[in-house]
Amino acid sequence: MRLFLALDLDDAVRRRMAALLEELRAPAPGIKWVAHESLHITLKFIGEQREEKLQALKDALGAVARPGPLDITFRGLGCYPGDRRPRVFWAGVEAPPQLAQLAAAIDAALEPFGIEREARKFSPHLTIGRAREPARPPAALSAALEAHRQDEFGRVAAREFVLYQSVLSPRGSVYTRLHSFSL
Ligand code: 2AM
Repeated sequence: MRLFLALDLDDAVRRRMAALLEELRAPAPGIKWVAHESLHITLKFIGEQREEKLQALKDALGAVARPGPLDITFRGLGCYPGDRRPRVFWAGVEAPPQLAQLAAAIDAALEPFGIEREARKFSPHLTIGRAREPARPPAALSAALEAHRQDEFGRVAAREFVLYQSVLSPRGSVYTRLHSFSL
């Protein structure tokens, strides 16, 4: 089973992002925008694991030090690797340093399962779209992104992180909540 860990949005932020995605969708049919109900902040991509390992994984994650609730602000839009040929479109995530510490603790807790530690520094973000073929964005999309580049999309007090199963399908990935861990 394909697994990952994420922080969820609350309904208010999800609605704001849904409205934004509605606006971005029309000028950019070549981009796979994330369904608003699937939006999440990835904490750790675990990848394929055998189902027999699930309980041990949950036990290890349950033993990770908890920072307490984390105040997170969603602000700004950007593209990766850059505006000229974007592959990923994201909304910015402002979080206290405890979030990166949690991601590092999770990394360490999962290493004994053969799950590789992240080579790159944890950089929280909300992926909102992925380009099928990276190309120069249409002018209308650039204009829509520019219009919201500095917007604040809301705040949440994150109280848990969630273990998700991801099932790939031709119509996109379907995410199922398997377990939540309180912060
Ligand atoms: P992203 O939000 O940074 O794009 C669930 O699939 C999540 O895991 C995605 O939202 C994605 O994070 C991340 N992910 C998916 N496939 C991945 C891979 N092969 N390596 C690293 N992260 C991946």
